[in-house]
Formats: sequence, structure tokens, C-alpha cells
Amino acid sequence: MSATDTVEVQASEPNQHGYRSYTLGGFTFERDEHFVHVRWPTGSHVMSVEVFLKALMRDVAWNFFYGIVNFDSVIGTMNHYGDVDLFAGRYNDAYRKAELDHQENFPEGQIKGTFEAILADWTNESFDPFAAPQETGSPFGVKSGGNDGAITRTRVTARRMVGVPGDEPLRSDERGYPVNRMFADVAQDEPTMEVEAGYEGEVAAFNLFSYLSRSDVTWNPSVVSVCKDSLYCPTSEEFILPVIHGNDRVEWFVQLSDEIHWQVDDRESGSPRARVVMKAGDVAAMPADIRHQGYSPKRSMLLVWENGSPQIPDLIAQGKAPKVPVTF
Ligand code: PHB
Ligand code: FE
Repeated sequence: MSATDTVEVQASEPNQHGYRSYTLGGFTFERDEHFVHVRWPTGSHVMSVEVFLKALMRDVAWNFFYGIVNFDSVIGTMNHYGDVDLFAGRYNDAYRKAELDHQENFPEGQIKGTFEAILADWTNESFDPFAAPQETGSPFGVKSGGNDGAITRTRVTARRMVGVPGDEPLRSDERGYPVNRMFADVAQDEPTMEVEAGYEGEVAAFNLFSYLSRSDVTWNPSVVSVCKDSLYCPTSEEFILPVIHGNDRVEWFVQLSDEIHWQVDDRESGSPRARVVMKAGDVAAMPADIRHQGYSPKRSMLLVWENGSPQIPDLIAQGKAPKVPVTF
């Protein structure tokens, strides 16, 4: 993305804790040893710096994702694919009724450049926002170094499929992806392929369980296979999904191992709609008008299946595509 290269990030001098404050339109972001303070013309908000940095990491790495990325029940972004809304209280019933909500639209490069600068400045050297809690140090305290390696990982996005020559490589010890402590029992053999003469180089297969057992991050879907708009985005999960995702399209979940508990709320208001407990082998479709957050008691494997077509949000708005994948 060259758009971020030219962006002017508005930052103050470091405060007494060592961290700069940032201004984006009418919003300001400030951190101290424990908290992030967000201010906007009609209100203010405080968040744990741990929750904030983990959400910010995903918002940046996923290029604002599909639809809404709620950092919590107040702060978040809505992706319009080219420009992005930053909001406070916009999808919170009480803030809306009290008319305290606020949102501003920014070119993608401007908000991304500012978010990247905040992430780099506020992440200390011991903290990896993508890691499971037991696999990283503390985000708290006065500024001490940085962790650029952890916050600039490139997201795996296969063009066709992981393991195809010239595409995203498999993970291995040699490439720096050892089997995770929680997946020591996952078989590491690869499939045997017997390819018809003349088709060598056109057939590929890989062990997805082995691939996921070697993920060094949590709650970070990788695109491992692509067929037109059909994207397989599996991920390894442990503890809590750091964002509350407001879908702008239907997505399917296939629980590949262990268990995840989903809290599903109304996308607009945040009022509760369902709790879904998914065990290994369970399949669920998440509607286009919900927000959801997952809780994974132990590290688990989840396949997120997305339809990446850029037309879907408009088709849903016009009533031409459904908000649910099946009606009974
Ligand atoms: C989702 O919002 O659907 C989502 C995001 C990240 C994950 C899993 C699911 O790791
Ligand atoms: Fe989602």
C-alpha cells in the first residue's frame, strides 16, 4: 500500500510515560501505563491498553476487514473499501439515544497510517498483540522499546492454495514455525499424491491440520485457498477474539478442533441475540446483520469461509442478497 507512504500522522511529543498522543480528525488517542484514552467532540472513553492494542493490530493487519471492527462496545471502524469510518458509540444503543455518538470518514491510507504509527509507538518490546496470553509478555508500563517484527507480520493470503509451487509455502521447523505447545498430538504427515502423467505441477495437496498446528498467532484468519470469491480462511484460536466483528455478509464457521463459545449480538444496537457453542465438527453460518466475539478455552482450529465478493454489501442493502444463507 503506497497510499500510507504520503500520510501525515499527527503526533505529539512523548508524555511522561514515554508515549506520543495522536490526532485523527476530531479524535485524539492518548496512552498511559495501563489505559488508552480516546476523546471526540461529544465524549470520551477509556480502554485497557491490552484490549486496544490487540484490536488495533487486527484492524491494521486485516486492512479494516469485512464490515465493522468493534474494539469494544464503543470504539471501532466500518470499512467502506477505500475509505473507512472511525466511530465512537455509533453502534451502541445508549450512546445513540443520548446523541453522544460520533463518526468521521477517512481515506483508508490516512487512518491506516495513523493506526500503524500508534501500534508501533505503543507496543513495547515484550508484547506481541497476535500471541496467546501465555505466549507473550505484558503490554503495560512505561515505554520500553518496540516490537516491529511482531506487528509487521504479513498476513498469509494465498493466490490459489498454500503449497502450490510459487504460492504461499507450507510451515515447517526450518521456516521458523514449530508445532504449537497445544497441538503436540497433531499428525505432521503430508498427503501422498499420485498424479496422472501430464498433470504434474497442476495437482497439490497439503495437511491443513499440520499447517494450523504451526501457526504462531491467534485470531488471525489466513487465506489458504481461493476459488473465485470463495475464500478458505482457517485460523488458530486461544482466549478471546480481540475484536467484536460486525459482519457485512454471511460467513460460515467450521470448528475443526476443540471448542469455541460465540457471543452473538445485534450488529446495530449490540443487544444480545444468541450464544453458540461450537464443538469439533460443528458447522454454523453467521448472518450478515450480527456482531460476534469468540471465546476459545484452549487453542483450537477454526475454518472461516468467506465470500469475498465486493458486491455483497450493496446487494444486501438493496435486498438482492439475503442476510442468512438458509431459511427453514
Ligand atoms: C470473525 O469475525 O468472523 C472472525 C475473525 C477472526 C477470527 C475468527 C473469526 O479468528
Ligand atoms: Fe465475523
